[in-house]
Amino acid sequence: MLEDKFGRRFHYLRLSITDVCNFSCTYCLPDGYACDSDRDFLSVAEIATIVQTFAQLGTSKVRITGGEPSLRKDLPQIIAQCAATPGIEHVAMTSNGYKLDKCVEQWVDAGLDSINISIDSLDPRMFASITGHDSLDSILAGIEKGLTLGLKVKVNAVLMRQYNEKEFNGFLEWVKSSPISLRLIELMQTGDNQPFFQQNHVSAEPLKNQLLQSGWCQVIRGKAAGPAQEFYHPDYAGKIGLIMPYSKDFCASCNRLRISATGKLHLCLFAEQGLDIRRYISAGDEAGLRQELISLLGDKEATHWLQEGLTGATKHLAMLGG
Ligand code: 5AD
Ligand code: SF4
Repeated sequence: MLEDKFGRRFHYLRLSITDVCNFSCTYCLPDGYACDSDRDFLSVAEIATIVQTFAQLGTSKVRITGGEPSLRKDLPQIIAQCAATPGIEHVAMTSNGYKLDKCVEQWVDAGLDSINISIDSLDPRMFASITGHDSLDSILAGIEKGLTLGLKVKVNAVLMRQYNEKEFNGFLEWVKSSPISLRLIELMQTGDNQPFFQQNHVSAEPLKNQLLQSGWCQVIRGKAAGPAQEFYHPDYAGKIGLIMPYSKDFCASCNRLRISATGKLHLCLFAEQGLDIRRYISAGDEAGLRQELISLLGDKEATHWLQEGLTGATKHLAMLGG
């Protein structure tokens, strides 16, 4: 079992398969994707080695992330590879939803069981001004299709003072009738977005109070759960999650490790650097990779240093998929 010196166990692998993205979200890639990194992304065979090795070490859930994972043509093979790995019980993906309506059936057939889609506004014009794409309607249609196929759907919305701060009630209204889990994420500071962060960060704490005062109850966390504090309400079909990375003890329940699209291990989203493990991955050396992972995990720190304004090597989250 992968366990660090603080007793945290790592059931959950976030695997980036590309850092390319076709959206240009204000807080992430405001000028669009810049092709400045090497593009030698992990192959399906390398992904198989990674997922098998993590599964041998007790990982039960894989989340495929990007950039935008659906920009890879071999995505269905990647999903199928993860789903076929003994020990992997959940295959999830994070996507901007651009190809959801067209491809969701294919992804579910390949073995995808849950998806996180970013929707920062339910107003089509505001959505387009945040992402650079006028695709809200198609994404909403894709979500409906996914739900009818039995896919678990979570929606991520990043809270931003100048864009969607007033939309909380609209989001609640949506969750009343739709069985989605809507997660409101506090904006995080990255290397590239500092002025934007200063202008737009809002705390989710008042929203938590508002929920608790209006009959919402907190859900108990599962072992492979995400970082959200989740809430349910008997009159609502869906759930609300709050992701508050600046709150005290946020890191105490960390249960995830990350692999970048070029095969580096990131012990934290905001680590100083990715650790090069590609040689084991490329050679298909699962025993060597197991030893290396156990040894590198010794360096995982207790917490990120975001409160101090230190964002590590993370210029934007398209590098690692959030
Ligand atoms: N702060 C908070 N959330 C972010 N995301 C991307 N960049 C940031 C940031 N700076 C979110 C995206 C997506 C998820 C992968 O991470 O909106 O939903
Ligand atoms: Fe692309 Fe996601 Fe970044 Fe938006 S937040 S630009 S969808 S990687």
